[in-house]
Amino acid sequence: MANKIVVGAQWGDEGKGKITDMLAKTADLVVRYGGGNNAGHTVIVDDLKFELHLIPSGILYEDKMSVLGGGVVIDPEAMVAEMEGLKERGISLDNLYISETAHVIMPYHRLLDGLEEKRKGDSKIGTTGKGIGPCYTDKTSRRGIRIADLLDEKRLKAKLEQALDFHNEVLEKIYGEEKLNAEDIIEEYRPYIEKIKPHVTNTSLLLNKAYAEDKKIFFEGAQGTLLDIDYGTYPFVTSSNPTAGGVCTGTGMGPTTIDDVIGVTKAYLTRVGEGPFPTELDNEWGEFLRDKGHEYGVTTGRPRRCGWLDIPILKHAVRVNGLTEIALTKIDVLTGIEEIKVCTAYKHGDKIVEEFPPYLENEIPYEPVYESWPGWDEDITGCRNYDELPINAQRYIERIEELVGVPAEIISVGPGRKEAIIR
Ligand code: IMP
Repeated sequence: MANKIVVGAQWGDEGKGKITDMLAKTADLVVRYGGGNNAGHTVIVDDLKFELHLIPSGILYEDKMSVLGGGVVIDPEAMVAEMEGLKERGISLDNLYISETAHVIMPYHRLLDGLEEKRKGDSKIGTTGKGIGPCYTDKTSRRGIRIADLLDEKRLKAKLEQALDFHNEVLEKIYGEEKLNAEDIIEEYRPYIEKIKPHVTNTSLLLNKAYAEDKKIFFEGAQGTLLDIDYGTYPFVTSSNPTAGGVCTGTGMGPTTIDDVIGVTKAYLTRVGEGPFPTELDNEWGEFLRDKGHEYGVTTGRPRRCGWLDIPILKHAVRVNGLTEIALTKIDVLTGIEEIKVCTAYKHGDKIVEEFPPYLENEIPYEPVYESWPGWDEDITGCRNYDELPINAQRYIERIEELVGVPAEIISVGPGRKEAIIR
């Protein structure tokens, strides 16, 4: 196996956890490169359901190294809760490595996330409320606190005081909130720090050494292309680069170390949070997809908005990530729909737009132009070979491949580890 990246090709929640878990089998290391506990991956192993937010799904295999790169933001409380939860279920944490340069989510980041959203009112982003945006903001404002700072209490206190010097003024004067105190935060975080400490290392070095030893590395994307701060539906995005480019900056691995980029896409489309969504179905088919696809956020429990597959979005994902293949997930959810629609372009005033525009929300709306494909009624969850799929399912898949220009090498037909067709 070559070194691969798995990225979300849509707005996150594409089923990356399962695809990564399937492919992690052949890798030696599984690496997260960005985002934080805003992510949520569900992995089902032998009827056991694991919900992972921060820790790469490689942790479920004893012989793999699981690495959190420097581009990840880490909430120590959430990190330790996840570690303990896995330990209780007999999962070993011996091979878990955390970058010393990853930034730390502090209590004021979570607080500010909520306050900023409230202040935005109707133009809120609909964040997960985990403090992700404010943490990345501190990182780029050079006010952030990194994992390495946690290891030296004196330095941590000095850095916290410096950060609070700014944040307390914002909390008090803008939001009318109480000031926070560095010592209280250290007190709260001390037990978490103790548990995280043994896992902290120079992960860029670790990864590059593994690469030099010809180990196979798997980069596990979080969120999705359309949530990318640069290539997503800005401003309704997260604050990191979930796209393939984020792997290099988020891990300290050079671009020449990567061979393949797999874009995970659902056979339909979902989104949580605010922002434009041209193919959204505000009708019984939207309900059908939500119910049948269990489209509720792993992290926040929010119902996901559902709609038809959007090809301009997928073509954009192919381009900005350099996708070499796609993994099509949840195609079984479409079983029972008589007429499946695919958006191939948008009607924008009197123009037909085939490529993803910089702003989907516009005074002149982007209205989907649909193609319709006949559906199927057969249960496809037992299919393991492509030719076992009903002909209409095959036609749907082949049309997607034709429209986006890359092959669908993996087709997931159910939630379990084995419910997939690998072509
Ligand atoms: P934040 O990442 O919490 O700041 O949220 C920003 C936007 O990204 C919101 O619309 C969230 O719903 C969305 N988001 C963040 N993480 C995920 C994810 O893992 N899956 C789907 N949406 C996400």
